[in-house]
Amino acid sequence: METRIIDGNALARKLRESLKTRTTQLTAGGNTPGLAVIIVGENPASKIYVRNKVKACAEVGIHSEHIELPEATSEADLLAHIARLNADPRIHGILVQLPLPKHISTDAVLNAIDPKKDADGFHPMNVGLLATGNPRFAPCTPAGVMAMLEDEGINPWGMNAVVVGASNIVGKPAALLLLQKGATVTICNSKTRDLASHTRAADIVVVATGKVNLVTADMVKEGAVVIDVGMNRNAEGKLCGDADYQGMLGKVSHITPVPGGVGPMTITMLLANTVLSAERVAKTQSR
Ligand code: GUN
Repeated sequence: METRIIDGNALARKLRESLKTRTTQLTAGGNTPGLAVIIVGENPASKIYVRNKVKACAEVGIHSEHIELPEATSEADLLAHIARLNADPRIHGILVQLPLPKHISTDAVLNAIDPKKDADGFHPMNVGLLATGNPRFAPCTPAGVMAMLEDEGINPWGMNAVVVGASNIVGKPAALLLLQKGATVTICNSKTRDLASHTRAADIVVVATGKVNLVTADMVKEGAVVIDVGMNRNAEGKLCGDADYQGMLGKVSHITPVPGGVGPMTITMLLANTVLSAERVAKTQSR
């Protein structure tokens, strides 16, 4: 079977073009979308992610505010920044890059973000809205996964979907979005016995664990769709995902490469959530 490589860069470019049009319209109406990105500490991977987010904002005409705080920042100081951004009408999306230093409560921080500005979709209210099938902001990486499936014409309705990884950022919301689209969803985690027995039954496998080569070709069925959210370095120091990409070629119907798959889509969906948030504000003004 010929395997289609899902090109995340190409789809991200296409979606960003349409976001640019929406941003231009918003700016003409005096509602330039604004995103604030806060990073605490010196995590090198986080710094690269945040820099890319800020750069992507500029490309589509989103105003961005980049707040870099030292590792020793207190929880109270961080909460004060969030309170200021919650009240700032130029800001429509607030993202606090995770993970946070250990002395800061992630729950307290996520709870403090105005749910209407929660472009990550991590506030418990937005998690609840997603779980009850009425999402206000879908978390960016799973939203990117769903956009890729849709663009490929893959309708999850009635399919078996297996999500490997149960994080709040990717696995759990990805499972909820697939469920909402009519898939029969299994969520596997690091304790799952006989992972292959689950993945082999899947029409769609979403893998998000951070473990190199966790899902190999013998673990998926012929013609499955493999979405690889992993971002790792292999023994040679090369970027790679959680699935054995080379081994899957010729067996699966679709696969996302790493890099160039889900990664560029995550940032695009963050931009999309920010634009959506600004459009909601614009709509309340026009009433
Ligand atoms: N860290 C890794 N992924 C993400 C994400 O999507 N949002 C935030 N805020 N932090 C992250």
